[in-house]
Amino acid sequence: MGSGCWTIEKRSNLRNEFLSRESGSVPETGCLSVVVLGASGDLAKKKTFPALFNLYRQGFLLSNEVHIFGYARTKISDDELRNRIRGFLIQGKGASDEQLEELSKFLQLIKYVSGSYDSAEGFQLLDKEISEHEVSKKTIEGSSRRLFYFALPPSVYPSVCKMIKNYCMNKSDLGGWTRIVVEKPFGKDLDSSEKLSDQIGELFEEPQIYRIDHYLGKELVQNLLVLRFANRFFMPLWNRDNIDNVQIVFREDFGTEGRGGYFDEYGIIRDIIQNHLLQVFCLVAMEKPGSLKPERIRDEKVKVLQSVLPIKDEEVVLGQYDGYKDDPTVPDNSNTPTFATVVLRIHSERWEGVPFILKAGKALNSRKAEIRVQFKDVPGDIFKCQKQGRNEFVIRLQPKEAMYMKLTFLVPEVRAETLWSRVAKHDHPVVLDFLSCKKLKGSKLYNVVKVKCSVSLLSYIAHRLDYSLMQVKQPGLEMSTVQSELDLSYGQRYQGLTIPEAYERLILDTIRGDQQHFVRRDELKAAWEIFTPLLHRIDNGELKPTLYQPGSRGPEEADQLLERSGYVQT
Ligand code: NDP
Ligand code: BG6
Repeated sequence: MGSGCWTIEKRSNLRNEFLSRESGSVPETGCLSVVVLGASGDLAKKKTFPALFNLYRQGFLLSNEVHIFGYARTKISDDELRNRIRGFLIQGKGASDEQLEELSKFLQLIKYVSGSYDSAEGFQLLDKEISEHEVSKKTIEGSSRRLFYFALPPSVYPSVCKMIKNYCMNKSDLGGWTRIVVEKPFGKDLDSSEKLSDQIGELFEEPQIYRIDHYLGKELVQNLLVLRFANRFFMPLWNRDNIDNVQIVFREDFGTEGRGGYFDEYGIIRDIIQNHLLQVFCLVAMEKPGSLKPERIRDEKVKVLQSVLPIKDEEVVLGQYDGYKDDPTVPDNSNTPTFATVVLRIHSERWEGVPFILKAGKALNSRKAEIRVQFKDVPGDIFKCQKQGRNEFVIRLQPKEAMYMKLTFLVPEVRAETLWSRVAKHDHPVVLDFLSCKKLKGSKLYNVVKVKCSVSLLSYIAHRLDYSLMQVKQPGLEMSTVQSELDLSYGQRYQGLTIPEAYERLILDTIRGDQQHFVRRDELKAAWEIFTPLLHRIDNGELKPTLYQPGSRGPEEADQLLERSGYVQT
């Protein structure tokens, strides 16, 4: 549950201050109803309710204005739902009395309504409950805010949208609103996605629709824009003249685990690559937006997606882990990939010829999500025989958020001890590489060494190279920048600070009406246009996955493709 020593009142003052500062306006005052549809399900329990609790703890949801409604078909009481949430939130965590009290207060804000997803009765009852809450808070009719979170299978989105539109909308337009948050998968291909968009679009305007991709809520994904566009020294480097290849990688060290039935219908490309990795890709590759307005940012994302060339068969490797089909919900003849490497190429002045290698897999050797930007070799390199590898800038999205550089540089021997003592303090792979540097000590005054570089070592180098300060996003729910040394192992740099969960900040964005980190309809369409031809070929059995061992790096062919794409192991 994390530590919490501030009172909720104190946090709420801060929250009000923050909201006014961020939006430049007075915080909205109409009472807020958050409705979690599919409240009996997995996502609601693991992500939605915990995110709401964390927002409550931080003072972003106030007892005197918010009420939370769970809605699903399962017949359970308010207390049964509350106990489920409590059980999940405190399991295996030593919660203090203060935390337990906070949790109890939060749970009292939750009410459960049971009903089906396609009948008026349930939604009329839901509307009645919401209205009673609004009346009890003396909210002026029309100024209330209603947020509907769809923690539901997409098959029921159209009927649920219709029910909300018919029975549960905010009654008029006096500063209040009705918004819906829809989860992926948004369709299975271009046609089904467009059909779903049409169905929802007939009932809700685009500013009311929040298509969530939780990768857009991750701290380091949110940092990408700041990193790229607020730091002068990245700007001249971020192009085909300097960058050889980019990898965007997602690995999980567990299989489909109880979700085999869902997964088999979608596969790794629809589950991870077409949405999560492609969103990261957009932020790495897009041009600078004219401003930070959500529409300007999303315009640039659409442009880069529309510049992606058709995927070539020889630049795709598919895999399926051995044992995937043992899941009784997966058909014996399943052709569904649990691993894929796909090379995307952008037809643009900035990126012509640079492969963007998107790789995702289940049941691999580690759990990790990262971006690796590999630079070209140094032209006319006079140190060629003394070093190996290239410069590589790594942004690790999870676990242990970090950014680090792999550099080759001169180590003055006199500083070696100091460097070593600073580096050794930190839990980072740099230590291994630095050992070889230490071995060189004593042979010469200066040695050329290869260093996987982070933390204080990076700031040391940055200082020597005279770019010791860079802009980064201040971690947390605020979108503000701070100056930092190039010291970006978050665990060390921001000790004691809990990085918010992606869902927390995205739900907060929906309450604030900020669509910057949500997927716009044309963006979604462009994303499906890239992958639909490949997906159809896989669905038709024209492309087949290779078997790989659970706990491995995936099929060997993927590493061969990486090498063919120009990646040099560094
Ligand atoms: P669940 O399968 O747990 O379904 C949520 C609830 O929806 C269930 O409790 C059930 O409630 C109802 N439901 C289930 N199947 C049907 C059906 N066929 N028809 C009508 N209602 C049904 O889903 P999750 O919670 O795992 O996921 C919800 C959404 O979030 C999905 O779109 C999923 O793709 C997405 N998502 C999930 C993630 C996760 O980690 N779970 C991660 C990212 C996205 P009841 O029977 O009580 O009405
Ligand atoms: C979900 C996928 O969208 O993202 C899951 O459906 C996957 O298959 C999950 O496990 C990964 O999210 P995270 O935040 O743990 O990387």
